[in-house]
Amino acid sequence: MCGIVGYIGGKAAAPLLLDGLKKLEYRGYDSAGIAVVNNGSIHAAKERGRLSALCSLTGDGKSISGHLGIGHTRWATHGEPNHVNAHPHISIGGMVALVHNGIIENYSELKQFLIKNGYSFVSETDSEVAAQLIDYYYKRQHDPVEAVRLAEKRFAGSYAMGIVFADREDEFIALRKDSPLIIGLGEGENFIASDVPALLKHTRRIIRLGERELAVIRKDGVTIFDKDSNTVKREPVMVTWDADSAEKGGYDHFMLKEIMEQPDAVRRTIAPRIQHGRVELGLKRITEAAIRSIERVYIVACGSSYHAGMVARYAIEKYARIPVTCELASEFRYIEPMIGSNTLVIIISQSGETLDTLFALREAKKRGAHVLSIVNVVGSSIAAESEDVLYTWAGPEIAVATTKAYSTQLVLMELLAVYLGRVRGHVDERLEGELISALSELPSIIEKLLEDQAGLKALAAESYMQRDIFFMGRNIDYALALEGSLKLKEISYIHSEAYAAGELKHGTISLIVPGTSVVAICTYAPLLDKMVSNIREVKARGASVIAIAAGEEHRGKTGANHEIILPGCADIALPCASVVPLQLFAYYTALMKGCDIDKPRNLAKSVTVE
Ligand code: F6R
Repeated sequence: MCGIVGYIGGKAAAPLLLDGLKKLEYRGYDSAGIAVVNNGSIHAAKERGRLSALCSLTGDGKSISGHLGIGHTRWATHGEPNHVNAHPHISIGGMVALVHNGIIENYSELKQFLIKNGYSFVSETDSEVAAQLIDYYYKRQHDPVEAVRLAEKRFAGSYAMGIVFADREDEFIALRKDSPLIIGLGEGENFIASDVPALLKHTRRIIRLGERELAVIRKDGVTIFDKDSNTVKREPVMVTWDADSAEKGGYDHFMLKEIMEQPDAVRRTIAPRIQHGRVELGLKRITEAAIRSIERVYIVACGSSYHAGMVARYAIEKYARIPVTCELASEFRYIEPMIGSNTLVIIISQSGETLDTLFALREAKKRGAHVLSIVNVVGSSIAAESEDVLYTWAGPEIAVATTKAYSTQLVLMELLAVYLGRVRGHVDERLEGELISALSELPSIIEKLLEDQAGLKALAAESYMQRDIFFMGRNIDYALALEGSLKLKEISYIHSEAYAAGELKHGTISLIVPGTSVVAICTYAPLLDKMVSNIREVKARGASVIAIAAGEEHRGKTGANHEIILPGCADIALPCASVVPLQLFAYYTALMKGCDIDKPRNLAKSVTVE
């Protein structure tokens, strides 16, 4: 999704802005631009396509001088991705330039108002309307804070903004609602950005701007105001990520690096939650009494996070004996969810900024549920607005396709299921001990799975020319099939569908013809025989089947053309192990096809539009 950077200080702004934008490339974008204030005017450069085009246009920023500026990578929402629609947007007359993430929903109405007042527009964007409206008020107030606040009062929607004024070379404005924005504090210089990697090279002292807060950024200080214009005092937090962990660390792609980081990420997520042989989650607000009174659980998320929720559903029903419904966040608000004070809504989001998920969270709160979030990004909007939050300690995830964040979601949800089970009296001490030791073995199981990737590379080499690849599984393996299929299609662009294996014969089996590839996930031992029958069914129609099973004793028993055998492990640990070959299969297939693995077409890392 779109990226923002802003700078004020003693250095040349343009090269620094371009460098910051490079660090945000992983968010996905289709055009980029910068605007720098110098000698009473705003100098801007924009380009469609990759950032390298903007770097060439500006001689890596050297052709634009000035010490204050803003930059943006845009992922098109209103208007096609082109030069005119790219940010920054500049008001007619050139007084105000603005970069914006989010959507101004009532922009047409505001545009009409501005047209009546003599304004004209060059782009199709909602963001240009915001720039012109600020200009309208600036002409009347001649105070940047006042002008931005007056304009903001008329905005409906979501926004993170950086705003510069041609006649203000000593300050600029940052503003946010619903979309993330951070401030980086330096020595004699300060920054804004939509995400941490853009700033790591310059500072680790970060302030997250709160909902509807406005900041005045000067080179020697930052002043933050809440929506009622009161000054807000907020201590910066120190970001501990090393700069390297936001870079590729020697791998060809972030995705592979992040796959390889899973043993550590899983270890980091589990270890602090095991104390004296028990699962301790440190929930601050949702009490054990409240947990005992829960009658229903909703798990709400999007994409892979939703798939993690589907796995968790099996675990929570099994260990905590509470009925669980898994809902897509984009649907949740429209289903009239049956929520009361005895409902627990679990929100899962890697970024903590997915707008559909954030809105689902607000809906759940409005309806009186307890809301617990599973989030990777500390201090993100979803984390901030939840009653309680549990962080997956996956570290920064840069590749658009999630891997380590997904596996940490899985283990954290499994721990949660055990904890809920104990508090509700369904998991005794012995069972809790067994489940904990099964989960604690996961990092070394994953390490082993990552050691030898030759078999998966060979399978990818056989499959990458396929037009369609089907995935099937039962129970937890069905949830894994959905994730394996999503991983493959999003990065390799091979059409793929995932089915509960028993469902295939109710329609989809008509698509199986000689040569079709099918990945059959059959790690869940109680249903292995049923999966073997399903493998026979598709093979009888000519499919070539890759089976993933667990435990050496099952080698040669699936009847598939190829087998991947995972080390045997307890059911609770299986999903986190089984996803590893699925991720590698997707990765190597996309690699063979020469795809842009870390930035698949049309996709964004953090989806901050509905
Ligand atoms: C797929 C993927 C997406 C995300 C989804 C939700 O690889 O990464 O499907 O899982 O966009 O994002 P978060 O978890 O940030 O809410």
